[in-house]
Amino acid sequence: MCGIVGYVGDRDATEVLIKGLKRLEYRGYDSAGIALIDGKLIVQKGKGKVINLEKGSKKNNLSGKLGIGHTRWATHGEPNDVNSHPHLSETGKIAVVHNGIIENYNTLKKQLIERGRTFQSQTDTEIIAQLIEEIYTKSKGVTFEQAIRLALKQIVGTYGLAILNIETPDKIYIARKGSPLLLGVGENEMFIASDASPIVEYTNKVVYLDDGEMAIVTRSNYEVKTIDDSPLTKEVHELAISLDAIEKAGYPHFMLKEIFEQPRSIADCMRGRIDVENSSILLGGIEDVIDDLVNAKRIVIAACGTSWHSALVGEYLFEQLAKTPVEVEYASEFRYRDPLIGKGDVLLVISQSGETADTLAALREAQEKGALVLGICNVVGSTISRETDAGVFTHAGPEIGVASTKAFTAQVVVLIMMALELGQRKGLISSDEMKRYIAELSRIPAKVEHILEHSDDTIKKMASLFTYAPNFLYLGRSYSFPVALEGALKLKEISYIHAEGYPAAEMKHGPIALIDEMMPVVVIAATDHTNDKMVSNIEEVKARKGRLIAIINDENTEVKDLADFCVSIPNTIDCFSPLLTVIPLQLLSYYIAVNRGCNVDQPRNLAKSVTVE
Ligand code: M6R
Repeated sequence: MCGIVGYVGDRDATEVLIKGLKRLEYRGYDSAGIALIDGKLIVQKGKGKVINLEKGSKKNNLSGKLGIGHTRWATHGEPNDVNSHPHLSETGKIAVVHNGIIENYNTLKKQLIERGRTFQSQTDTEIIAQLIEEIYTKSKGVTFEQAIRLALKQIVGTYGLAILNIETPDKIYIARKGSPLLLGVGENEMFIASDASPIVEYTNKVVYLDDGEMAIVTRSNYEVKTIDDSPLTKEVHELAISLDAIEKAGYPHFMLKEIFEQPRSIADCMRGRIDVENSSILLGGIEDVIDDLVNAKRIVIAACGTSWHSALVGEYLFEQLAKTPVEVEYASEFRYRDPLIGKGDVLLVISQSGETADTLAALREAQEKGALVLGICNVVGSTISRETDAGVFTHAGPEIGVASTKAFTAQVVVLIMMALELGQRKGLISSDEMKRYIAELSRIPAKVEHILEHSDDTIKKMASLFTYAPNFLYLGRSYSFPVALEGALKLKEISYIHAEGYPAAEMKHGPIALIDEMMPVVVIAATDHTNDKMVSNIEEVKARKGRLIAIINDENTEVKDLADFCVSIPNTIDCFSPLLTVIPLQLLSYYIAVNRGCNVDQPRNLAKSVTVE
C-alpha cells in the first residue's frame, strides 16, 4: 500500500525515481510524486499514474542527484493533486513521503493549526512535515535529525517515511514503524524503497530497516539508529531476485505472465524439498520446530484474501493427512477478539507479501500469548518472514499483478508438503502412500502446463460469452470449496463483476434463489469423493436454467453431459486438486477483465500489499 523510493548518487535522480515508482506502482496507483533537491527543493506530483508524473517531469526538465518519490493508495483524503505525496512543510523547506496511517493526526493537526500553521491537504502525512518543521525551528539547538525523532515520538500510528530538508541537501532521512523500508547499498550511491523491486537493477546489497529504526543516508554512507538514537550495526543482505522476474517478458499483463509461470513456480517451490526417489519431504525452514508441530494440540491459520483461501485448503489438508485440528481465521478478526491461543498451540500465518498489517498483528498477538508462530511467505526479507519463529518460503518469485495467482498455488504446495511431512512423522501415512503422494506431487507442474496449453483457447471463448454477465456464482465441495471462493474473488477484484463462492450444498439455503437463465454458475467438480453430490447440485442449477460452466477432471463424463461449457483438467489426487482447478478460474477472470477493458494488473481501489488496517 503506497510505494516509497529514494535515491542519492551521481545518476539522474528523476530517472531513477520514476523508474522505481513504475516498479512500485502495483502497491498503489491513484497518484504519484517526487521531490528533488537541486539547489532548491522541487516537487512534481499529481493525481493518476506514474506515466503522468513522468510526462510532467520531462516537460519541466526536472533534474537533481538526490530525491524521494511516492506512489499512493489513498487513505486520508481523496486521490487528487493536493493530497498526492510528497507533502511540504509550511515554508516549503521540508518534504515528506509516507506509507502508513497516523492515527492521532486529527489531534496533532488541530494543535498545529491552533499554533498558527496552515494546511494544504486532507492527508495525515502533511502533519509530519509540519510537526518536524515546528520542532526544528522553534526548539533551540535541536538538529534536524533530533527534530524528526521528537516528532516521531508524538506520532501514534504506522509509517515508512522518507524526508528531505533543503538545509541538509546531501541527506535523505528515513524511518520505519509498521511499513516496510529498505536501503539499497551501491558504490557511491544509495537507494531507498518499500520493497526490492526498484533497487534490484542497481545493486543486490540491501539493509532492511526494522520497526523503531531510522537512517540518515548520503551517497557514500548510511547511519542506522533507533528512533531513540542508539546506533545500530545492520546486516547487509544479498537479494536473490533478478530483473527478469519483475518485468512482463512480452506478456500484456503481469497477471497473465504469473498465471503462465505456475508450472515453474510450483516446481521451484518443491525444489530441494521433495525427494521422489526416497519418497520424503524436507522443509528446512521448520526442521527445528517440527517436534512442536507434531505435538501441537491444534493449528490456527491466520491470513487475508487469497492467502486465507489457501489457509482453508490447509485446514482440509492438515486434518485429512496429519489429523491435526485446524482453525482458519481472518487475521483481522483474530487480532481483535482476544483469541484463545497460547503455549502448545501453533499459529501459522500465510502471506504473499509478508507485510499485510492484519496478518502481522495476528502474528504478534499469538507470539505474545506464547504460541509458536510459523509463516508461509513469498517475499524473502519481509517483516512477517523475519518475525515468525520459523517458516517456509514459497519461492514463487515476485508477484506484481495485484490479483494473486502463483502465490496461491505455491502456498498450497507448501501446505501439502507440511501436511504430508506431519502425517508421516505422526505415523499416519504409510511409505506406500507417501510414495504415491510424492510421485503425484512431482507431476503437478506438467499437469498445470497441460491445462495452460490446452484450455487457454476454450476459456478465452467462454470469457467472451460471459463478459457482460452482472453476477457469477462459484460452487465447490471439499477441496474445491476454497477454490470456488478464490475463483469468485479473482473475478470480482479484476473485472468488477459481482461474484460469490459457496460450498455447493449451501446453495439450497439461499443462493439458489438467484439462479435463473441469466446466472452463470461455475462448478468445480474435479474431486472424486464428492462427485455424486456435485452432480445433484448441478442438476438443481440446470433445473432452474442456470448457465453451467464446469471444471471437471478427465473422467467426469456425467458432469460433462450436463454442463453448458466444460474445462477438463488432468486427474490427480483429490487433495492436490486445488493446484489444478484454480488455473482455469484464474484465466477466466483474466480474459473477462481484459474484454471489459479493466486494468487487470492494477484494479481500482486495490493495492498489492495491504500494509494498513
Ligand atoms: O500479501 P498477502 O498474501 O498477505 O495479501 C493478502 C491479500 O491482501 C491478498 O491475497 C489479496 O486478497 C489479493 N488481491 C487477492 O488476489
